[in-house]
Amino acid sequence: MLRGMPENPQTPYQILGDEGVRALVDDFYDRMDTLPEARRIREMHDVDLSEIRERLYIFIRGWMGGPAEYAARYGSANIPSLHAPFDIGVEEREAWLLCMEQALDQSALATSPLRERVSTLFRRMAEMCETLDESGKLKPHFASIRAEMAAG
Ligand code: HEM
Repeated sequence: MLRGMPENPQTPYQILGDEGVRALVDDFYDRMDTLPEARRIREMHDVDLSEIRERLYIFIRGWMGGPAEYAARYGSANIPSLHAPFDIGVEEREAWLLCMEQALDQSALATSPLRERVSTLFRRMAEMCETLDESGKLKPHFASIRAEMAAG
């Protein structure tokens, strides 16, 4: 390798490993459970967070470059569409990102050169999960998913 060149490009998963991703997700939901800013998004979730902790762990692990098991275990991997039932506007999106940013600050990614990229990708994903437009109206894409769901 040329001197001065970066090491082989690493994935966030290589930095965190299974335990680090698990800790990130647990920290994220602990914050959602306690931060006043997150009260509304917490209320969208089940009282018992154990199932969603597992689902987000499996998803993020694959998304960060680890084993891609989400689709095999849970079916559809179209994550934004799975948010259609919820009213997610700018405030809800920012509350989600606040919990995740604080959890990232406590993780091994905090000091990694990959940190910024990971934050950007989380933000992009959160925007894709936003079901309401700036005026609080349901976006047409999510309205049609809701209509399909209602029709069974
Ligand atoms: C924009 C703000 C977001 C809000 C308010 C939100 C909220 C929710 C809620 C209420 C659920 C259902 C939980 C339950 O069934 O108890 C959920 C599921 C899920 N969310 Fe989000 N979410 C957001 C963004 C994201 C982002 C950015 C990701 C990925 C990086 C993500 C990944 C997931 C996954 C994997 C599930 C599980 C879906 C399933 O298997 O049914 N969410 N989310």
